[in-house]
Amino acid sequence: MQAMRFNFRTLCRNAAERGGQMQRRLLDALGAHHSVKTLPEFGIERAAQLAGCTANHIRNLETRGDLPAPRLVEAGSIQRRIYDYNEINQIRDTIGKRPRRPDGASCVRVVFSNLKGGVAKTTMSLHFAQYLAREGYQVLLVDADPQATTTSAFGFIPDLDLQDGDDLFPALTEAPARLSQAVKHTHWGTLDLIPARLALQYSDWKLSQPEERQNETLGPPPVRLHRALKTVEDRYDIIVVDTPPSLGMLALNAIAAANLIVMPIVPHMYDISSSVQYFRILEQVCALYEREINVQRLNILLTKVDASTETLNNIAVINGAYGELILSNRMGLTKELQKSASDQLSIYEIDQPRGSRDTYNRAIMMLDGVNAEILLAVRQLWQQEILSGIETAEAARARVPA
Ligand SMILES: Nc1ncnc2c1ncn2[C@@H]1O[C@H](COP(=O)(O)OP(=O)(O)O)[C@@H](O)[C@H]1O
Ligand SMILES: [Mg+2]
Repeated sequence: MQAMRFNFRTLCRNAAERGGQMQRRLLDALGAHHSVKTLPEFGIERAAQLAGCTANHIRNLETRGDLPAPRLVEAGSIQRRIYDYNEINQIRDTIGKRPRRPDGASCVRVVFSNLKGGVAKTTMSLHFAQYLAREGYQVLLVDADPQATTTSAFGFIPDLDLQDGDDLFPALTEAPARLSQAVKHTHWGTLDLIPARLALQYSDWKLSQPEERQNETLGPPPVRLHRALKTVEDRYDIIVVDTPPSLGMLALNAIAAANLIVMPIVPHMYDISSSVQYFRILEQVCALYEREINVQRLNILLTKVDASTETLNNIAVINGAYGELILSNRMGLTKELQKSASDQLSIYEIDQPRGSRDTYNRAIMMLDGVNAEILLAVRQLWQQEILSGIETAEAARARVPA
């Protein structure tokens, strides 16, 4: 009698079917327990400070009906007004103080990229995107990492809540305009998310296939994200992209879509040496795709910086090599951000610190400092674009004979 031949393909098909049923049961069981994300709330004084007006002005607008009636909470014998970031943006809209990218300037794409994992790409891209939303900008956060940590930070359970089509895949492999279907609103009114899920990993393989390279309609595989973002970017001021720790097709697409690359580096010896590899590979990639890549600026962001002498020495070494590329604000190592990498929580979303109030305030101050500096770099790109627009127009006028 002939022994039954082990068939790996059949095993995989069966396991996927049974696993699919298990997922549906899990999803049903989760139902009501599903975490619903909320924003922190503030009193009227803080709301006024954030919106850039006085508390009295807000009260007047509410009385006149220019703003909706405020939400009230009982505080002892009195009722207090409370506001979250979305309501603060509504106040900014009403008083004409919502920041926007200037007329004539395009949406800027900021990509957090490094070959290494664990350097805080996800942490810093998440907090930068939420910082921008807090300031009132219209933001799109793109999760290009199949590990989907950023995605879970918004309350999505990647492979349960999200279906085919809810990530970058269709836009990269079928048609750029498919991207808008993947865009999800979040609990931050001015922040949309393109989620990731483990299945997105397949696009790395798919985009490396020879037939994809010959696909003339969709263009060279590394520029697909660039083209897809063009179909949605009118709606946003800034697009932020979190990338996987590799140089596969997803990471390459992110680099080819970037105007500004922020490269987080932990000032440890191993991480410093890997940055050399990163620059070497980037240089080769640029040589291959010279026409497609349009990075206008790269900045190094020192992350998880501790106070040891060794770290200080390492920073001196990095300064010697990369000096002008390094952002002057650094992100220090802090307990407020120290947790399992798969459990990403934003500290812009909590109003009760996990540790001491001091540790929390220090973490917020460092994040605000770093984020303000990156936003300044974005603003400089907007100014450059406007200036070059004026110069082009002047040059055109100069060519027309009087
Ligand atoms: N400033 C910081 N202080 C302490 N821990 C941090 C800090 N930034 C990030 N982490 C932690 O480091 C780990 C890796 O960060 P992560 O953002 O996931 O890196 P990457 O996306 O580059 O792989 C996570 O557990 C995160 O919570
Ligand atoms: Mg990450």
